[in-house]
Formats: sequence, structure tokens, C-alpha cells
Amino acid sequence: MCGIVGYNGFVDAKEILLKGLEKLEYRGYDSAGIAVHNEEGITVFKEKGRIADLRKAVDEDVVSTVGIGHTRWATHGVPNRRNAHPHQSANGRFTLVHNGVIENYHLLQKAYLKGIQMQSDTDTEVLVQLIELFVKEEGLSTVEAFRKTLSLVHGSYALALLDNEDAGTIYVAKNKSPLLVGVGEDFNVVASDAMAMLQVTDQFIELHDKEIVVVRRDSVEISKLDGRIVERAPYKAELDMSDIEKGTYAHYMLKEMDEQPSVVRKIIQAYELDGELAIDEEILTAINAADRLYIIAAGTSYHSGLVGKAYFEKMAQIPVEVHISSEFGYNMPLLSEKPLFIFLSQSGETADSRQVLVKVKEMGYPALTITNVQGSTLSREADYTLLLHAGPEIAVASTKAYVAQLAVLAVAAYVAGKARGNAIDFDLKQELAIAATAISAIIDSKEEMEQIAEDYLKIARNAFFIGRNLDFCVSLEGALKLKEISYIQAEGFAGGELKHGTIALIEEGTPVFALVTQEQVALNIRGNVKEVVARGANACIIASEGLEEEGDRLVLPHVHPLLTPLVSVVPLQLISYYAALHRRCDVDKPRNLAKSVTVE
Ligand code: F6R
Repeated sequence: MCGIVGYNGFVDAKEILLKGLEKLEYRGYDSAGIAVHNEEGITVFKEKGRIADLRKAVDEDVVSTVGIGHTRWATHGVPNRRNAHPHQSANGRFTLVHNGVIENYHLLQKAYLKGIQMQSDTDTEVLVQLIELFVKEEGLSTVEAFRKTLSLVHGSYALALLDNEDAGTIYVAKNKSPLLVGVGEDFNVVASDAMAMLQVTDQFIELHDKEIVVVRRDSVEISKLDGRIVERAPYKAELDMSDIEKGTYAHYMLKEMDEQPSVVRKIIQAYELDGELAIDEEILTAINAADRLYIIAAGTSYHSGLVGKAYFEKMAQIPVEVHISSEFGYNMPLLSEKPLFIFLSQSGETADSRQVLVKVKEMGYPALTITNVQGSTLSREADYTLLLHAGPEIAVASTKAYVAQLAVLAVAAYVAGKARGNAIDFDLKQELAIAATAISAIIDSKEEMEQIAEDYLKIARNAFFIGRNLDFCVSLEGALKLKEISYIQAEGFAGGELKHGTIALIEEGTPVFALVTQEQVALNIRGNVKEVVARGANACIIASEGLEEEGDRLVLPHVHPLLTPLVSVVPLQLISYYAALHRRCDVDKPRNLAKSVTVE
């Protein structure tokens, strides 16, 4: 969470920083700020709220070719102007932006900064005060003081620092939080995500943990915390500006839902070799060498992991456990003899998942990351990567990445199963293509989803999603989508489990969305629907073609029973979207959330 940017070049920095922050707003939008440096010194502009609010506060007359910026997702200190970054040292010499968490900030404050009146409630401010202290009291240079401060820190950080006495330099450092340096002709930039600086360059240098970078207009010097210089060549970011623009869409979420059929088709192409689905041989060997797969993920990715378990168990016949990453770290189950860990993460940056990856690597186990972001932390640190090929997902609520995860998990499980000689009596490539067409058909009938949102959710306080088997997994995702963007309290439930307590919540008119796509449990789930209807629920049955009955609200095109989650999630996403619109919610940036959760 939080996004940072920096520019050191030859044109006015303000607009580049603001545009960069707009592209990073998905990382947090509690407050925003920039600091620019010119002959007059450093000027800070910051505001509570969005980049649009910050824009209004920026004085156009302050012109500068060097600056840093920040968009915040609050961790320490409430979201207000006082806690907004950039933060400045007591004597105003240093100005800093930070993404991450300084875990020992209290101890550092007590040990070194007793006499200093802090100006915020953040963990970040300790860093900038320490740097000034070490320069002032120990006579260290800025870079030495930066190094010394970072050597005392426990936690995660991506930092950009300005020194009032050196207008030509941005000091940068990284540990656990993502950070890139972008290089250009006579300018260099800094960004949490390449997307922010594609406006000026597509050449980026990856930074590793515990590296410090001195960024000048005409040079980039990377060193380790101990001072050793590191040489690293830039790579070209394979991103297109059009991928990250909303175009004519009202919301990124709508655009991303619309992209789902083409994402599935792209995955078929990306994983096709000589007309057959295939994955990298090394990854295939690693999967088939495992006696158990451990899928580790959070949120929506955890929900796709639940479906992935069914794919691997049914097609590859490998036992699978799916774990919430934030729980797994300290509550590790007994592991099998030859586990393979699979990290599912759209962003590849989720701190909860990363802490598990670090731990299992220390234990010597192999790890595969399935992610949308090439070069992301989880991808770099795992032994193997499978890419989602979904294109940048910018709306905070994940949609196309979920569908892409299901498709890639299906491909991996299918290829592994085939390689093991398991009897798989269908052609996944063909079935995925059919699923893509089915998703298109649903997307083409958006008005119907809008009407369902109106009929069932306009005045709802809460809602339930029920299903059995794979439909249960999708129910969890449907409930998460609805609650995160419309703020309607929603729960996903296994149809059979509802009667063991939760049915007490059903009242006259309570919306219950029931998925009926799994033939072997279709009658059972219909029984559960009857139970809730008998207690006053307003049931919306969404059934697959061939399993539909009179009175069902929506009939989904028939697809292979294993692939129904790719299709049945789409109406739930769209219904959530329209419910949020009806309530005038900020669909792309729901309150309290951020896209890339880089704190544990
Ligand atoms: C919900 C959502 C989150 C993420 C979760 C994990 O719509 O997007 O629940 O799925 O924060 O993020 P990744 O997949 O990037 O690890």
C-alpha cells in the first residue's frame, strides 16, 4: 500500500509527479502529497483525500525540476493532513516519502529522538528525524546518515528523500516494498510501479532489498547498505499506455470485467505449444514431483485457490491444501514430505503471502508463483512463475485476475494430469474457448444484471450467496465483491451449512443469491433455497443451462462443469458493480481499501 514517485530531470516536476500518483492511486487514497526542490528550497504540498484534492492545493507558480510524491493508505496515524506524506525533519533539512511499515519506530524514537517534537503520528517521521540527527550530531553525509538510519530499521520500506542542501539528488532505498528506478534521456525517475512513470519512460531498473540509490538527473548509483556498488541494466516494461487508461469506460472495474473473455483467450494462446496446452517443463516436473500442493493466497486470490484445489485434485490427482497467507505464517500445518508451495497473487506484492514465501524458502521448499505481474516480488523470489496475462488490473476490486487465475490453474492442473497419464476425457483448450464465449454472452446482457441489482439490492442491508461444491467457492467471491464495493454486508455460504446457524439471519426480503451449476448437488441447493424462501428470503437463482427450472432469474450458458466458476462469477461481479453504482459508491476505489496490500 501507499505509492511513491520521484522525478529528477529538466522539466517542471509537478505535473509528472501528480500524473504518476494518479496511476498509483490504486495503492491507497487516504491522503496525498508532493515535495519539490528549487533554488528557494523544498516546498511541500499535501492534502487529505485523493490526488484530485492535492491538485487543487498545488501552487502552479512553484516551478522545480526535482520532486517526490506519495499517495497514502493509512497504517500508523489516522488519515489526515498532519499524517500525510511527505514528512519533514525538525529543522526542515530533509523531506521523505515512505511506503511500508517501520516496526521498531517506537524503540528508535525512544532511543534517539527524545528531545524532538514529532509533527505526525506516523512511523515514517522517525526516519526523517533520524537522518537529520545523524547528519547534525555525528557529522555524517546525507548518504551515510541514510545508511545508518536504515541499518537500525526493522520493517518494510520504499523511500525517497530530498535534502534541502542538495537540489540535484533524490536518495532512494528499498526493503520488502516494491520500488523501481526509471531511466531516460537527461532525467531519471522513481516509482512503486512502472505504470506511474510510463508517461516518460519504459526503461526501468529493478531494485533489490536493502539497496540504496542516489538518483541524479544524469546518473543512477545503486549500492548495498554496506556501501558496495551494484551494476544493473534497465529492462523494458512491456506495458502499453492504453492498457492502463480507462478510455471511454465509466470505471476501470467495468473495463476489466469486459476484458474477461479476451483474457481467457489470451491465456489459451500463451499456454499453447504445437496445438496443445503446455506449461514450462521445469514447472511441470516440480508439480508432478510434489506429494501435496499448498496454495497460499489472500482475498479474491484465496477464493480462486479454493477452485484450484478442485482442479488439481480432480485432473492431476494431487492432494491440495489452500491456506490464507496471513494465517499460514504462524499456524503452519504439518507438512507432507515433498510439498510444492503455490503462491497465488494478482499483484505479486501481497506482504502476507510474501512472508510465507520467505519462510518456506528458508525451510528449503520449492515455490511457484502464479501472478499477473512479471518481475513482482513474489515472482522474483519464487523458483518458478506462471503468468496470468490479464493485463494491468487497476480497479481495487479484482475481477479479471480472478478469472485468469482460474484459467491458469485449470491449465496447470490439466497439463500435470495429462503428463501423469490420468484419464481426462475433455479438451481443456476447447472448453476454455467455450467458457470465454459464455462470459461474452453474460457481458452482453449487462442490463439484466443491472435490473437484478435494482430488484434485489436497492434497499438491502445484507445479502447471502449460497452454493455447493464449486458454487460454494464462487459464492465466497460473490459476497466479497458485493461487500467491498457496495458496503452491503454479504456472506458466502455452503448451501448445506446455512441451516446450522446463519439461517437465523434470514428475514422478510433478505436477498439470497443461489448458484446452481453443479449437477450432482443441484437438487440439494434447490432444497436450501426452499428453506430460505420459506423464511421470507428474496431468492435469486442463477443456474446453468440444462439445470434451470421455471422461476430461475438467470440462466448461464452451458460450459464444462469444472469451468462453471469462470462463468458464474461474472454475473455476480456485474450485480455487485450495479449495486454499488445505485448506492453512489466509488466503485474503483472503495473506502478503506488499497489494491496492493504490502503490509502484513
Ligand atoms: C478483492 C481483492 C483482494 C485481493 C487480495 C490479494 O477484490 O482484490 O482481496 O485479492 O488483497 O491480492 P493479490 O492477489 O494481489 O495477492
